[in-house]
This record gives sequence, structure tokens and C-alpha cells, in this order.
Amino acid sequence: MEVMREAAAREKAGLEVLHLEVGQPATPAPAAVLEAARRALDDDRLGYTVALGHQPLREAIAAHYADWYDEIVDPSRIVVTQGASGAFVLIFIAAFAPGSRVAVTSPGYPCYRNTLTALGMEAVDVPLSAESGFRLTPDDLEAAGDLDGVMLASPSNPTGTVLRPGALAELAEYCATRDITLISDEIYHGITFGTPAETAVGLPGDPIVVNSFSKYYSMTGWRLGWTVLPTGLLTPVERLAQNLTIAPPTLAQLAAVAAFDATAELDANVARYRANRDLMVSRLPEMGLDRLAPADGAFYVWADVSHLTDDSQDLCRRWLSELGVAATPGIDFDPTRGNRYVRFSYAGDRDEIARALDRLAPSLT
Ligand SMILES: Cc1ncc(COP(=O)(O)O)c(C=O)c1O
Repeated sequence: MEVMREAAAREKAGLEVLHLEVGQPATPAPAAVLEAARRALDDDRLGYTVALGHQPLREAIAAHYADWYDEIVDPSRIVVTQGASGAFVLIFIAAFAPGSRVAVTSPGYPCYRNTLTALGMEAVDVPLSAESGFRLTPDDLEAAGDLDGVMLASPSNPTGTVLRPGALAELAEYCATRDITLISDEIYHGITFGTPAETAVGLPGDPIVVNSFSKYYSMTGWRLGWTVLPTGLLTPVERLAQNLTIAPPTLAQLAAVAAFDATAELDANVARYRANRDLMVSRLPEMGLDRLAPADGAFYVWADVSHLTDDSQDLCRRWLSELGVAATPGIDFDPTRGNRYVRFSYAGDRDEIARALDRLAPSLT
């Protein structure tokens, strides 16, 4: 966020910034969603929905599991939330207690750790190795000691790594046999460049699944996500949701039903991410950044810059002030080794990415 603030300040001062830091699609919501939103504005009173979410949307999400993963999910197990972020708060409070030990990966999405800590829970750091492609294994969990929960994402932010086929099932089995609550953040599903990511729905131990309209569906600002819950958590989560937020945003919920019919438009976005990714993973090694996490999905490249610096925050600050290129230092994603890494986003425009790489290249040799 600091990088984004500095980048915005530069732009305000009339200076150009080439963006490799942005963690969201550059595209708007799909046309069908915009059209549904316009209709809702004209025709609907837009009062609260029930706390668990607009029923037709819950049914559309359930149908999505049959469509994408061949999994039958009862719509009553689906809770619509204010983004994946809103789901995390509800789930952490409902599934854990203050002092609960929940594993989070390093590198990993920093808000898991920060939200758990804010709620008085212990975020147990699980370091992942570059050699394993930053993929979590049962052995990593074994080394973390007693756990109440595990939080993971595949594809991952910041690494873009996707778990290998069957690996999520192994992790679920490990957690199920030890009474550990597994939470699978599937927000980057749909944005993969090889084998599609597997869902935790239907795996042993009834894992909790979180997803969102923010990434594949290109609807970050609509603040809409969902969770698929084990039946035992439905009532606690419903009560929490009612008290904390009353309901997710109604306009967004009414419009989002149409997102599941926008596959052609959304897959065209993914095709652009793929082209951007190909550009990055071919150009960065030529520029000397050849230790990259496997960029299997999401829209990020996680690059080891330890031959250039042991302070990637300072490096990113210099790239921004001297070259006008914004990238994200790794420290928030990995509190111990993040200073040796940078996250590049390729969610944006291909020409802008190419120009940013042209500017960076001379400074890296
Ligand atoms: C891995 C991961 N999970 C969750 C979120 C939060 O998403 P939402 O916009 O649905 O709250 C993000 C946002 O960047 C993310 O990268």
C-alpha cells in the first residue's frame, strides 16, 4: 500500500508510473454484470438481503461447483460475504478461539496473519522453500507443532504457485486425521495456466472454502465473496454476519448472479494474463532475475532479488523514484526472507509491462 501511495503521489505530480504492483484486474466487471446492476438500480428497492446472502446468488454459486468441479454443494452451505476478506473474519471468529494456533505460509497473503493477530489468535509461520516451488506439504505442517487451523491459497499470492494434482487432498487428509480446520482460499481459481487448481470442496474433514468475485470475475470494488462451510459452522457464521455487517452489498449481489454466464469475456481476460505472464517469465531471466517461483496462476511473479539487495523495500523505492516503475517489496508476504524478494504483478496492460521491463533491464546488470 505504501508503494501504491508513493506511485499515486508521483502521478499527481505529473510524473509517469509504470505499474507492476497492482493486485487487481485492470478490466471492469463483465458486461452482463454491469447490465444486471443497471436493471437492479432501476427495478429494485435495494434493501438488505438476509445475512447469508441473496438466495439466487447462493444457488448460482452452488451450480458453479457442479459446473467447474463436478461437486454437488447444497446452496444452504454457501454464505455470501463482503469479499474473501469479510469471509476470513467470520470464519476465524466462528472456527477458532483467542489463542488458537493457525498455520500461515511464508510467503503468503499478509492479511491472514494480520487478521488472525488482530483477533487474538496465533498465526504460526510456516516457511516454504524455493526448492519446493513454495508449495505447502504435510511435512511443513508437521514441523509447525500443534495446530488448530491451516490457511492456504492455491494459486498463491504472492508466488502464483499452484499445488500439484492430489496435493490439496493430501493436506486435507493430514488435517482431518488431526482435527485441524483447513481453510482453502480459492480466490485465484480460474486464473491458471496449466492444470486447473483443485477445490477443497468435498475433501476429507470438510474443509472451509473461501472464494471471491474480485479476481477471475474482475469485480474487486463490488466487495463480494463467498464461503462454503461445514454445516456445523452455518449458525455461528450467520449470527456473526448478522451482527457484524447485516448483509453483503445488495446491488453487488443482484448483479453478480450474471457473472457465471460471462465465461467468454472472463476467459479472454485470462488469455491476456497468460500473454503477460509469458512475457515476464521470458524477459525477467534475460535480465538476470532467473530465480522465479513457478508462475502457474494468479497474476504474480515472485522474484529472488538477493543478488541485488538485502533490502527489497529500498530497491522498490529506488525503482519508483529513479525509473518510475512500481513493484511490491516482499517483506509483507514473508516477514523473515521477504527483503530478498519482489512481487511483480502482470494484471495490467501488456505494453505497460513491456515498457516497465525495458526500463528495469539496464539497472539489473
Ligand atoms: C490470496 C488473497 N486472498 C484474499 C484476498 C482478498 O480479496 P477480496 O477482494 O475478495 O476481499 C486477496 C486480495 O488480493 C488475495 O490476494
